[in-house]
Amino acid sequence: PKIEFVSELLSKMTLEEKIGQLNLPTSGDITTGQANSSNVAKNIEEGKVGGLFNIKSVQKIYEVQKIAVEKSRLKIPLLFGMDVIHGYETTFPIPLGLSCTWDMKLIERSAQIAAQEASADGINWTFSPMVDISRDPRWGRVSEGSGEDPFLGSQIAKAMVQGYQGDDLSLNNTILACVKHFALYGAPEAGRDYNTVDMSRIRMYNDYFPPYKAAVDAGVGSVMASFNEVDGIPATGNKWLMTDVLRKQWGFKGFVVTDFTGIPEMIDHGMGDLQTVSALALNAGIEMDMVGEGFLTTLKKSVDEKKVSIEQIDNAVRLILNAKYDLGLFDDPYRYTDAKRAKEEIFTASNRAEARKTAAQSLVLLKNQNQLLPLKKSGTIALIGPLADAKENMAGTWSVATNQDKSISLLAGIKEVVGNSTKVLYAKGSNLDYDAAFEEKATMFGKTLHRDDRTTEELLEEALKIANQSDVIVAALGESAEMSGESSSRTNLEIPQAQKDLLQALLKTGKPVVLVLFTGRPLVLVQENETVPAILNTWFAGSEAGSAIADVLFGDENPSGKLTATFPRSVGQVPIYYNQKNTGRPLGNKEGKFEKFRSNYIDERNEPLYPFGFGLSYTTFEYSNLRISADKMSFIEKLNVTVDVTNTGNFDGKEVVQLYIRDLVGSVTRPLKELKGFQKIAIKKGEKQTVTFEISLEELKFYNSDLKFIAEPGTFQVFVGTDSNTDRKVSFELIK
Ligand code: IFM
Repeated sequence: PKIEFVSELLSKMTLEEKIGQLNLPTSGDITTGQANSSNVAKNIEEGKVGGLFNIKSVQKIYEVQKIAVEKSRLKIPLLFGMDVIHGYETTFPIPLGLSCTWDMKLIERSAQIAAQEASADGINWTFSPMVDISRDPRWGRVSEGSGEDPFLGSQIAKAMVQGYQGDDLSLNNTILACVKHFALYGAPEAGRDYNTVDMSRIRMYNDYFPPYKAAVDAGVGSVMASFNEVDGIPATGNKWLMTDVLRKQWGFKGFVVTDFTGIPEMIDHGMGDLQTVSALALNAGIEMDMVGEGFLTTLKKSVDEKKVSIEQIDNAVRLILNAKYDLGLFDDPYRYTDAKRAKEEIFTASNRAEARKTAAQSLVLLKNQNQLLPLKKSGTIALIGPLADAKENMAGTWSVATNQDKSISLLAGIKEVVGNSTKVLYAKGSNLDYDAAFEEKATMFGKTLHRDDRTTEELLEEALKIANQSDVIVAALGESAEMSGESSSRTNLEIPQAQKDLLQALLKTGKPVVLVLFTGRPLVLVQENETVPAILNTWFAGSEAGSAIADVLFGDENPSGKLTATFPRSVGQVPIYYNQKNTGRPLGNKEGKFEKFRSNYIDERNEPLYPFGFGLSYTTFEYSNLRISADKMSFIEKLNVTVDVTNTGNFDGKEVVQLYIRDLVGSVTRPLKELKGFQKIAIKKGEKQTVTFEISLEELKFYNSDLKFIAEPGTFQVFVGTDSNTDRKVSFELIK
């Protein structure tokens, strides 16, 4: 019925109406860039709009949908899109934080709750998941992805798509997902947003493509093109990418939308005038033009001049109508605009409780000398820092639907968790940094950190006064929410200097200091790691951040997050990632001693400060008895790798058991380690669990120099442990 329905509708459409379906203006409700869509309502009436995005509230969406289905000639309902990236009003941790849970059920559930709330408020399409692999923390949008690893990134892509779309898109609480930004957006040169990307195809296929492909395999309904070029052609006009890879190789059946003004931006890329770049995009395999209005204003002329074919336009329209059909919009265009649902299903106590639990699991304990954490619920705590009482920053970047006023600050969270048991003193201590102008640059959607008018000395004096009255200092420091995210690249990866100075002054009091770190990216924390006894990295943990952090600080939750992006020692090590190659001149020592004419630096070690997969717990885990079911495996067999994990500490806890593989010899060079399995398990104190991983041919495959996905016979090492540094291993031979 879908094919017939859509064909029939298509046969009634004028060329103008067809082109209209390919047009996606923004409502102007929430500003995401420089473009300004005028005349939206009139255009809808005239059938010149296929969807609208970033308009918030069920009432407004209802009214706009009404124009489309009552006033336009063919009454075709609109798609309503939004950047529902990590939750809707109930906001979950930024995606980088969420990925550190390594818990696919939790991640899927977070997307499900986001879909539930967004769909109750009129939204039927989200521009998520963002699955761009990045090995470069200078790039501000690392905060929006799942880190550096293609295997983990693929599992997360799948979980998110499943969470948003469910098993049936036509239900009123599931929404269309959009995997982005296809492709390679996370690899701009020098970490500068929107900059040139230049990458070998073998690296694309092995390291950067897998999460996009995983989303396609999971049935994602739409794809967003990236701003960057791929092989010298902007992704938005890249036929190899959009047609050969996405559709022919991967079998994608949905539609592709540009990222914002991706079409007119090709003029600046130097690809031609608006008519030329619009035709280029359509012919490459783009179906929907977000904001750019290149399709709307030039495609008819291009049809007349035979620069694009009617078949190409029909095909694009068909894919967009298919999505509307799948969402059930032709049955009931108002199925997502139920005001009762909007009242009852958004920012509910139970959604917030789930977000709080999830947030607690996203925190990563980086250091805990002498078990300073968890803190006791007694005595006096001095909570100090510009992020301590900053509820407007807790939701983090790209949280357009969040209600900043309702987020829980760390100060509020601690007060709630300790009740009357503990005296909590608070002082701001410093501004985000000395330079006010810097703060201004890192601002989006008006989200900024309130700046105090007092001098540095006055702020410090107040902080030291309460520090000296306390038993322990909790320093809430780091980045503000919008220091990461879109267009927030940095060349310096340190905590801003004003806060570093504050931290050192607090340490001089001799009181124990816990650093509660807020950040949207891996930072350089060498000085902090050397001087501060306890560091808890909290990312931006969402609307319930303050409560979740307090749960962890006081031991109601035991931290179990593990890093999904490497923390460098120096910005000069970037790009840095665990699954690197050996090179022909690897270092011969493990102590990081410099060796002339070997691959290393004269002023820094090669290793990062905190490796991929790293994260501590209040308890300790011991690994033992690693074993493998056979030392040979044929192409049709499978092997089991098993390890015992014992909780040897004093708390019940969760551990992410990680399995890495090394293919020792290949027809192309192979990484030193690749994550190929993980299991997050809960172990009670004193107890032991046995964990088994199955290895099949699939885990041993890679793209060779012909871009064929194959496995090659030979020796494989299998490492199992608590992070990517593990050297506990067994080996086996893959035989033909
Ligand atoms: O979805 C986003 C994208 O990630 C960045 N540019 C704007 C889009 C729509 O808001």
